[in-house]
Amino acid sequence: MGQKILVTGGTGYIGSHTVVELQQAGYEVVIIDNLSNSNDGVLDGIEAITGIRPAFVEGDCTDIETLRRLFADHKGIKGIINFAASKAVGESVQKPLLYYRNNLNTLINLLELMPEYGVEGIVFSSSCTVYGEPDRNPIDETAPIKPATSPYGNTKQISEEIITDYVASGAPIKSIILRYFNPIGAHSSALIGELPNGVPNNLVPYLTQTAAGIRKELTVFGDDYDTPDGSCIRDYIDVVDLAKAHVTAMKRMLSETGTDSIEVFNLGTGRGLSVLELISAFESATDVKVPLRIGPRRAGDIEKIWAAPAKANETLGWKAMVPIKETMRNAWAWQCRISGK
Ligand code: NAD
Ligand code: UD1
Repeated sequence: MGQKILVTGGTGYIGSHTVVELQQAGYEVVIIDNLSNSNDGVLDGIEAITGIRPAFVEGDCTDIETLRRLFADHKGIKGIINFAASKAVGESVQKPLLYYRNNLNTLINLLELMPEYGVEGIVFSSSCTVYGEPDRNPIDETAPIKPATSPYGNTKQISEEIITDYVASGAPIKSIILRYFNPIGAHSSALIGELPNGVPNNLVPYLTQTAAGIRKELTVFGDDYDTPDGSCIRDYIDVVDLAKAHVTAMKRMLSETGTDSIEVFNLGTGRGLSVLELISAFESATDVKVPLRIGPRRAGDIEKIWAAPAKANETLGWKAMVPIKETMRNAWAWQCRISGK
């Protein structure tokens, strides 16, 4: 067996895809998840893909005693990937304390226990939301951090600062902070994917649900932006590409030589796509037409942002590979599976 890794939030969207890639790379995985935004059926999907059922603890990372028991029961954990967090931007505006408590207490508990249980490093899920509306694109890791526009975004900024301060204090740990751009798609097996709760806020689940007839039409939030076709631009990254970056980050962090105690990487493709371009990539990849209308701008939206991923490409030896049409086909296959089409 390879090194033992704790994946918090491992039955969630990005977590489940990362567990698959970790297991396929030979790591032994322990998942903790409180199932607040996922279900344990995901473990069947992971097992069907990899032939290995990861160890699973149903529990809440904000409860430090639960984590203590986990580390005592699963001795020898070398690294952590911390996905566990609440992530709905709108909800975070309504319930800020829930977001600060869940996202920050989870991180603080993990950091506090790491030296006690000999855990060497933690990979943290951050977001390009820390850059706000960039002054220029593509954006690299040296770009300024802008004031957060939501409590959710603020938890990511504060989390990065907590990790930085803790490492600077001389704590015997390493950390890699990964700033994701827009993760989309599903595993090519259609055995795991994104399970949105209620009406999706994000573009791709809304799009696939509309294509499946669950939603009447997709609203494009604004076509009067300062972009070539007037719709907003993002850097959409395939979730399996994203998952693989965690494996390379873990390998680097746990290696003996050559890594700083704390490193930050942008994870994106380096290519910006507009909302209208993404919809047309979906339609041409799947031959399914998506009913749409142009609506007003969504409050708080960023006009355009895409990554300069050179640091991750060069330092981690990782690159986003999956073509957008394949990502769209996988997203559609997953949607068809969960909606029984
Ligand atoms: P997700 O909701 O699918 O997964 C998070 C998982 O964590 C869920 O299974 C949930 O049940 C679990 N969880 C939440 N709080 C917990 C707690 N206190 N204890 C134990 N389990 C808990 O979300 P995701 O899209 O997979 O996101 C994973 C991480 O990546 C999050 O930290 C998120 O903020 C970050 N991120 C996501 C995106 C995105 O677009 N999906 C973009 C940037 C950053
Ligand atoms: C949002 C969050 C961001 C979070 C990310 C991933 C906001 C302001 N930002 O980013 O903090 O990290 O999700 O969870 O909420 N769109 C439509 N119609 C729709 C849905 C979306 O046109 O029905 C457009 C949006 O205007 C945007 C693009 O699609 O231009 C992508 O939207 P979305 O998937 O919500 O992601 P972000 O806004 O980039």
